Amino acid sequence: MSYQFISIEQEGHIAILTIQRPDQLNALNKSTIEELNAALNQLDVDDAVRVIILTGSGTKAFVAGADIKEFAAFSIEQGEALSRDGQRLLFDRVENMSKPVIAAVNGFALGGGLELAMSCHFRYASENAKLGLPEVTLGVIPGYGGTQRLAQLVGKGKALEMITSAIMLNAQEALQWGLVNLVVPQEELLNKCKEIAQKISGNSPRAITAAITSVNAGYAHAKVGMEREQKEFGLCFGTTDFKEGTTAFMEKRKPSFTGK
Ligand code: COA
Repeated sequence: MSYQFISIEQEGHIAILTIQRPDQLNALNKSTIEELNAALNQLDVDDAVRVIILTGSGTKAFVAGADIKEFAAFSIEQGEALSRDGQRLLFDRVENMSKPVIAAVNGFALGGGLELAMSCHFRYASENAKLGLPEVTLGVIPGYGGTQRLAQLVGKGKALEMITSAIMLNAQEALQWGLVNLVVPQEELLNKCKEIAQKISGNSPRAITAAITSVNAGYAHAKVGMEREQKEFGLCFGTTDFKEGTTAFMEKRKPSFTGK
């Protein structure tokens, strides 16, 4: 299959899946999400592949979020559908893969980008990585599972601090917070991911699938929060704050919110 916005390379049992939109900092538009879904479906049933490394092209960004330009004019219903469909096609898909998906966070992982990294089974980051959920600066909330997965990874208090303040953590802070497992210089990131992938690929694929399924089952209750997140995300699209936040982003200025 040929792809426009992603690439797949295979080295032995390891597949490297790269998002290829460097000029837009690998922002997730609809087509990229659909291509990632197709690639994940393909890799999931390929017995030759035992581990997947997911990364972004270029040296600046892993993924700078969902494509703000694409959703800025959406209605409440379209906003809710964006969240629901994205979750199904990509974020839940990654989390429920039968083989480990490692995020190689090679730069900005913001909004949907951090949510994508958090859907992966674990994360390694480069020293220049910056991680955050800046959605409230756009008048919206994380809509790809971020409200649930961030709290699972760093705890409720830290998750709410990050989400409400929109602070960006640098790589060392993300390591301290438990959001990433390892920080290395950028030029070593892929090799470090390959090293652990190599270890994983010598272990029983059947047992690994069972482990992923079991760990995920412990978080099944998050479904309630995920559904609430989709609803609340959609409702934000009907607000003046959302119009102001997205317009300000596109006009490259600071937003001025009224709470309406
Ligand atoms: N959606 C759509 N386009 C995006 C994007 C996103 N999430 N993030 C970056 N881009 C685009 C920019 O609009 C710009 O495009 P242009 O050259 O056509 O104007 C290009 O990528 C480069 O980004 P730019 O903002 O010029 O780079 P920077 O180094 O000044 O800033 C960031 C980098 C990551 C801090 C900044 O791009 C940013 O804040 N992005 C949005 C992050 C965000 O809010 N994500 C959550 C979305 S839910």
